Amino acid sequence: MAKVALVTGGSRGIGEAISKALKAEGYEVAATYAGNDEKAAAFTEATGIKTYKWNVADYDASKAGIAQVEADLGPIDVVVANAGITRDAPFHKMSPEQWNEVVGTNLTGVFNTVHPIWPGMRERKFGRVIVISSINGQKGQFGQVNYAATKAGDLGIIKSLAQEGARAGITANAICPGYIGTEMVRAIPETVLNEKIIPQIPAGRLGEPEEIARCVVFLASDDSGFINGSTISANGAQFVV
Ligand code: CAA
Ligand code: NAP
Repeated sequence: MAKVALVTGGSRGIGEAISKALKAEGYEVAATYAGNDEKAAAFTEATGIKTYKWNVADYDASKAGIAQVEADLGPIDVVVANAGITRDAPFHKMSPEQWNEVVGTNLTGVFNTVHPIWPGMRERKFGRVIVISSINGQKGQFGQVNYAATKAGDLGIIKSLAQEGARAGITANAICPGYIGTEMVRAIPETVLNEKIIPQIPAGRLGEPEEIARCVVFLASDDSGFINGSTISANGAQFVV
């Protein structure tokens, strides 16, 4: 029987590429999104992958949504916590709302996504937890105190989950993408992107969503069973850990 994979924020950007790559590998995929109904409908139309709408920052909504996915497709074997947002501002201008929104989605959202799925993975003695962190959680970034804090926090989550899940056949790993050509990056002012960011990427280009999706496919596979608590950096040598 096909394994079931859940991809939060799986309807566009990096998540879209992950959903498609997992489907191509034979997984039964559920993709979630927050509010962009039009994009989600077009994604389902193009791929045949079912989408579900809930806010990952809301625990009860996540729990109910995950229960629905499992009722529709079966127990979730692979969870990709990918949904994320930016609310960039220099710290002196950052509002508590900008802090709280980013923490709610990027950090609490990972708890809310994995926590309802975890007991079933423990019972079935198999699971793959993959969190999409960021280069900026590794190195920090001007204008991203909120975002960098959450993405560094995501690494703490997988390092701890790895130790708790190892004997139950569950691995937990993170991918730290560099700058990838999605709407999130296109929201950066063009002059900042062209003058301050791209020149810092030795590869001389943005990454492609598919380059992250291929890392996810590997981490989801049986072949990656001894890789646990790790971080794969995919950033064109912009930051070498
Ligand atoms: N390093 C040093 N100085 C910087 C800087 C940087 N990276 N970016 C901006 N500055 C400086 C500017 O040169 C300017 O200096 P002057 O005042 O001397 O001219 C000053 O900071 C701008 O200050 P402002 O108060 O005018 O800043 P602002 O309110 O316009 O906001 C910003 C600036 C929102 C941080 C904007 O620069 C920005 O969006 N930067 C990009 C941040 C970024 O990389 N975000 C990543 C988004 S994608 C993502 O997050 C995905 C991922 O995981 C990689
Ligand atoms: P994106 O193009 O902006 O897509 C974000 C996806 O997440 C969308 O499907 C969106 O749904 C969903 N989402 C956002 N907030 C949500 C919420 N509260 N609840 C449920 N779903 C939510 O972003 P991306 O660039 O693909 O980024 C995906 C992940 O990679 C994020 O975690 C990001 O931090 C990380 N990342 C990105 C880059 C990069 O350069 N792009 C680099 C490193 C890490 P809607 O369509 O409904 O809005």
